[in-house]
Amino acid sequence: MFTPEMLESIKKVEATRAERMSTEPRRMTAEEKSELLKAYHPDYRAEGFKEIKIGPNKGQKAPVELTNLIHSNSRLLNENIDLTKIDYDVDVLVIGGGGAGCSAAIEAHEAGANVMIVTKLRIGDANTMMAEGGIQAADKPNDSPVQHYLDAFGGGHFAARPELLRRLVMEAPDAIQWLNKLGVMFDKSEDGTMVTTHGGGTSRKRMHACKDYSGAEIMRTVRDEVLNRQIPVVEFTSAVELIKDDKGQVAGAVLLNMETDDYLVARAKTVIIATGGAGRLHYQNFPTSNHYGATADGLILGYRAGAPLLYQDTIQYHPTGVAYPSQIFGALVTEKVRSLGAMLVNKDGEAYAHPLETRDVSASAIIRECANGKGVDTPLGSGVWLDTPMIEILGGEGTIEKRIPAMLRMYLNYGIDMRKVPILVYPTLHYQNGGLEIGGEGYTKAIPNLLVAGEAVGGIHGRNRLMGNSLLDIIVFGRNAGKAAARRAAETELGEMNLDHIKAYAEELAAADCAEEGVSPLLLPKYARHER
Ligand code: FUM
Repeated sequence: MFTPEMLESIKKVEATRAERMSTEPRRMTAEEKSELLKAYHPDYRAEGFKEIKIGPNKGQKAPVELTNLIHSNSRLLNENIDLTKIDYDVDVLVIGGGGAGCSAAIEAHEAGANVMIVTKLRIGDANTMMAEGGIQAADKPNDSPVQHYLDAFGGGHFAARPELLRRLVMEAPDAIQWLNKLGVMFDKSEDGTMVTTHGGGTSRKRMHACKDYSGAEIMRTVRDEVLNRQIPVVEFTSAVELIKDDKGQVAGAVLLNMETDDYLVARAKTVIIATGGAGRLHYQNFPTSNHYGATADGLILGYRAGAPLLYQDTIQYHPTGVAYPSQIFGALVTEKVRSLGAMLVNKDGEAYAHPLETRDVSASAIIRECANGKGVDTPLGSGVWLDTPMIEILGGEGTIEKRIPAMLRMYLNYGIDMRKVPILVYPTLHYQNGGLEIGGEGYTKAIPNLLVAGEAVGGIHGRNRLMGNSLLDIIVFGRNAGKAAARRAAETELGEMNLDHIKAYAEELAAADCAEEGVSPLLLPKYARHER
């Protein structure tokens, strides 16, 4: 399974293991971290970014691939959409069928609203489903939301919007209880208390998990709740443009049936964008841990309608994506592997950094090792070792199977037993730190009745997110958006609907002379096969 060079390097990892395990790895100083990030983090590579020429964030930078989508016209520009022919008429339209969308729909339904979910793939085809390690909440006696706030604020380089981060940490314990009552099977000890671990940058053990399929378990539960409540879910149907009314409020969305290519009109008093991330845009050619539909659609819908973005120039590269074997290149190796004790080790068997530095720092350190010839060559590049046999030594035989069975299975499929040999990792595109700007209630700044929840939001985490705060934000901000949207819908009168912003956007693109050839939102990755 391993090349001779890899086997040679594994011997060095094994030879240094005992000594490494007897000394606590040093944490970097703030200055060391700052220098490392500037030298090696992809966010600092100027060639990966391009200036936005139109709209609310004109003059700011975004990843090239995102800017190109922003600089593209709507696919509806030359279509004649009859807005008087209403296919769906609801109080609350939720765009996206992941964790945030489902949480929003459940709460809107609970509040008595007529709510519908539209999703371009199937309900649950979302980054929520791919999340592994856990969900943070300060609910143990030695912890507090204040401590949680400080960890996340520092980890995000003090850039998180205080009103958003405050809500995230304050409502975290209730989010866990909500999920627990809905039926999420959290890891618990025999007396029923939840098992919690550290993540990178946490000062307390507050990561609640369902082994290493936390996201799948949460998704299973909220999806069941949506289906049990008989909330309508329109699958394989993309929102391709927001509709506004003559008062400037959002008034619904034009939908595209992905199977028949028919356009449909959904009228709604409030709209929640919960479309998730952008990994399938493969910024700077990175592989991704994201699901197939993660193409930043919500950012484009909101931006074209006039909603500003925040921190669109900051991306999270998860330090440990699979570097080898090639068949699963870029897949997530959960941070929990390091929480359970595995060290990051270079090809010479050196533990070059603390395993639980924050993600941007950890990813940069791996990139540095590989750039400086300290990585192990792989068919698709290079990687460093994650010394997984340490977990069994530290936690006892059977720990890997008990705590991270999905990881074990993933590698066993390729003949690699991570209980016995280390695994090779390299950063993978994991999360968009930025997104549409919202206030504390979840509303966008510019468009009345338009809300955003989940990964499409910018500002909750600042410029770097800690592990487990994303599964948390989809629940906290999803639930809040659902409640707020239901309340607002009850007092909203819609005016006459229009798509005027599409034409105005086209004129702005033409005036700036920056229109790209394709259309946006992208909906499916560039390599999608479109034959029927
Ligand atoms: O490493 C992980 O399990 C990922 C978790 C997250 O992004 O929060």
